[in-house]
Amino acid sequence: MPIKGSRVRSAVMWNALRGVLDRIAPEAGQSDVVDVGGGTGGFAVPLAELGHRVTVVDANPDALAALERRAAESGVSVRAVQGDAVDLPDLLGPDAADLVLCHSVLEYVDDPGAAMAALAGTVRPGGSVSVLVAGQVAAALHRALSGHFDDARMVLTGTSGRWGEGDRMPRRFTRETLSELVRGSGLRVAELHGVRIFADLVPNGLQEGDAGSADALLALESVAAVHPVLRDLATQLHLVADRLPSAEGLGGRPPRGSKP
Ligand SMILES: C[S@@+](CC[C@H](N)C(=O)[O-])C[C@H]1O[C@@H](n2cnc3c(N)ncnc32)[C@H](O)[C@@H]1O
Repeated sequence: MPIKGSRVRSAVMWNALRGVLDRIAPEAGQSDVVDVGGGTGGFAVPLAELGHRVTVVDANPDALAALERRAAESGVSVRAVQGDAVDLPDLLGPDAADLVLCHSVLEYVDDPGAAMAALAGTVRPGGSVSVLVAGQVAAALHRALSGHFDDARMVLTGTSGRWGEGDRMPRRFTRETLSELVRGSGLRVAELHGVRIFADLVPNGLQEGDAGSADALLALESVAAVHPVLRDLATQLHLVADRLPSAEGLGGRPPRGSKP
């Protein structure tokens, strides 16, 4: 069956997540997964369907209500906890998860460094954190390709990667700024993928033009995702970070409210 555009857009992400889960739970056993800012369960519900124990922490009670409905319709159980990302250690306790997801959230939080430290304190030694963020370079590319050249310049020169007051995205990241944020929390950067490189540049008509083109695009995306130049142009940057299995403490900033 040909792969439709939306699946091409998410395939790189899911391939990476499957790789992380295989590493964490090689015998296909259950893992404890915490999805921070998991919203209505776009990742949480499929992960629960795979058999993992999933908790979603989200600030928005309406999103959590929709998540609970979606989980019920899929016949799975997902724990929903209302709260802020920076309060994870208080909400769930330390070392609560084998895998922590934080997808499309760091763009919106008040203090990304504090949120990242909270994620790092929630993942167990030997576990991983999966972070997905909006890419700054891609935003400049897309604004320029639609004729908004001043916007594109502002995205590239401003520190938060925005094109001004009309830009609804509070901040974007480059490979460098994201990696620095993750390393500051004491985690080790393990993998970085570009998600949606060509898929967001090629018109939909070409992506689904014939039976083979979506499959060929997916194969291209998978190669480009880890290409040292092309991955930086992706609409989203996906980073997998590991908490080392040793007994060493996290070297980064302590979560909010923790004792020095
Ligand atoms: C763009 S949605 C992403 C949803 C989901 N992670 C996904 O990738 O489909 C952002 C989510 O983050 C949540 N959020 C924003 N700021 C948050 C914070 N400080 N703490 C917890 N959740 C937050 C929002 O309520 C929303 O559900």
